[in-house]
Amino acid sequence: MDGSHWLSMRQVVKKLTERGHEVVVIIPEVSWQMGMTEAHTVKTYPVSYTLEELDSAFHEYILSHLKGLPFLQKALALYNSSIAIFKVFFSQCKGLFSNKEMMQYLNQSDFDALLTDPIFMCGATVANYFSLPSIFFMRGFPCGLHYTATQCPNPLSYVPRLFTFNSDHMTFFQRVENALIAILELGYCNGLYAEATKFSSEVLQRDVSLLDLLNSASIWLLRFDYVFEYARPVMPNMIFVGGVNCVQKKPLSKVCSFSPDYTFSNEM
Ligand SMILES: *[C@@H]1O[C@H](CO)[C@@H](O)[C@H](O)[C@H]1NC(C)=O
Ligand SMILES: *[C@@H]1O[C@H](CO)[C@@H](O)[C@H](O)[C@H]1NC(C)=O
Repeated sequence: MDGSHWLSMRQVVKKLTERGHEVVVIIPEVSWQMGMTEAHTVKTYPVSYTLEELDSAFHEYILSHLKGLPFLQKALALYNSSIAIFKVFFSQCKGLFSNKEMMQYLNQSDFDALLTDPIFMCGATVANYFSLPSIFFMRGFPCGLHYTATQCPNPLSYVPRLFTFNSDHMTFFQRVENALIAILELGYCNGLYAEATKFSSEVLQRDVSLLDLLNSASIWLLRFDYVFEYARPVMPNMIFVGGVNCVQKKPLSKVCSFSPDYTFSNEM
């Protein structure tokens, strides 16, 4: 994984290495290479895009968030740009699976487990392909897939869907709204991951759904805090590790302070 997914995972990989575990990091040859200087082994595989193409796809993605469009158009533009950037990231997985050497290495290395941020499904596909136990380390899926795949109780009458701003006490019409959003979410995620499930079905040589890919995870390490989310039942293999995002503390820079002669860093 690239970008912020890796930035958080790097802390964990570092700790694992310090505790004497042998960790091999597999990354695409073309990546943003954020902090690849630690003591762990890094292996790369070729991909079909250049760094410029990766940058420009990401740039487009960010721009679509900043466009001042009416709500529905904006939602469509965001969806569109998400599909585009997901496509780039899915193509990494094709690069990995078409690299005979790397696949052979992975098969022969007899790893104990695979640690992955499953957001683009490649890690989940690799784990399924080699029948490896997997540990998911992530912020969360769109459409609440992390609750569905783990079979958390998630009744539409009591658990509000994201962005509805409802509580667990819903009126009849709020429940209807909740149900409609749940249906939209289903279509949204199936569209977003259409390419990924198609590819996974090819390599695993069976028809796999999103949930098939995800529900075999052994442990879900979730990078958020339970108290900041809607309180809901979760499964025992879901562990909240939001604190890892705050491990690297730095004083605020002068730019972040409210007036030129007052900095928070001095006060705190
Ligand atoms: C969606 O993206 C395609 C290109 O990938 C573009 O042609 C189309 O105009 C976009 N639609 C919206 C609503 O942004
Ligand atoms: C891993 O290697 C073994 C022995 O060469 C082979 O039988 C098996 O099919 C390979 N597994 C995968 C998933 O490639």
